[in-house]
Amino acid sequence: MITKEIDLAVELLQKNEIVAIPTETVYGLAGNAYNQKAIQKIFEAKNRPQYDPLIVHTYSLDNAKDFVTSIPSIFYELANIFSPGALTFLLPKKNIIPDIVTSHLPTVAVRIPNHSLTLSLLKKLDFPLAAPSANPFGYISPTTAQHVEAQLGDKIPLILDGGACEIGVESTIIGEKNGQITIFRYGGVSKEDLEAWTGQIIQAQISSSNPTAPGQLESHYAPEKKMYFIKRNDIEIQNNTIHLKNFDVFDINEVGFLGFDEYLEKIPRENQIILAENGNIQLAAQRLFGAMRELDKKNIKIIITFGVPTYQIGLAINDRLQRASTYLQ
Ligand code: TXA
Ligand code: MG
Repeated sequence: MITKEIDLAVELLQKNEIVAIPTETVYGLAGNAYNQKAIQKIFEAKNRPQYDPLIVHTYSLDNAKDFVTSIPSIFYELANIFSPGALTFLLPKKNIIPDIVTSHLPTVAVRIPNHSLTLSLLKKLDFPLAAPSANPFGYISPTTAQHVEAQLGDKIPLILDGGACEIGVESTIIGEKNGQITIFRYGGVSKEDLEAWTGQIIQAQISSSNPTAPGQLESHYAPEKKMYFIKRNDIEIQNNTIHLKNFDVFDINEVGFLGFDEYLEKIPRENQIILAENGNIQLAAQRLFGAMRELDKKNIKIIITFGVPTYQIGLAINDRLQRASTYLQ
């Protein structure tokens, strides 16, 4: 069954069609990274602006030599530990990668996804797969095949169902200069782990206004409902209303809450989702995007969140919550 599906995916991708693929982070919308027409289809299906470059997926870092000019030794060391996995390497590209993939940047983002189905697919192809997350541009990333189907089902010929994504937030994007690593997007591999393995203090260059600093455009990963990422002290609950400091007043029945490990008093329980009652930060990441989608469907006007603790994958969770929010803390 699965083998048949993989063979069908191979066939479609060879014809420069696009296919949704599972990874351990989020689902991707994949096409032949060497073929401009295939890439064009990805941008069209997602309604993605061309200034936002794509990540190219392959099955080993060494294999990336086909399409990058050099690989720093520290990346090999990191790949030994974290690949396949939620770590994306920025590398100088060869001309075989069309400019449309990298939005004319001289570097290409490379990742080895840790999902058996997608790894077997990659091994059957003689080209790598460019794949952004499989959601309409700006909306919440998909962590199940059903999420992909709900929004892009009519635009793509095949969705490979590999189950729910284990990690639940996108990969960490890193660059290298003179042996020093910089994080450009927080993600599945934590800053703490990178620091522990490299012995470096690692800087993060996360920007929301500069599209050459990866993935960090404003209003990203956002539900349709207005989301407020605020502090507990910035709200006051009186009788049946909730007052947001400097903002509006809502009836408590109009408010949804996305919590880490605790419910918010007074808000109806059916309008609250707690990511990890046991306080497990990995579990919170795994459930994040699904929870945002669920709240988005409820009969409420706004979603409030206080974020999660700021360690390990919590940095990536808070980054996504901030980008999803109309009003930041
Ligand atoms: O976990 C992931 O990384 C998922 C799965 C499908 O692999 N992919 C993903 O792709 O999150 P996407 O397109 O949603 O986000 C990729 C981000 C883009 O926002 C882009 O700005 C950044 O990576 N990026 C890609 N190439 C880059 C480059 N050459 N330089 C800087 N940033 C780059
Ligand atoms: Mg994305």
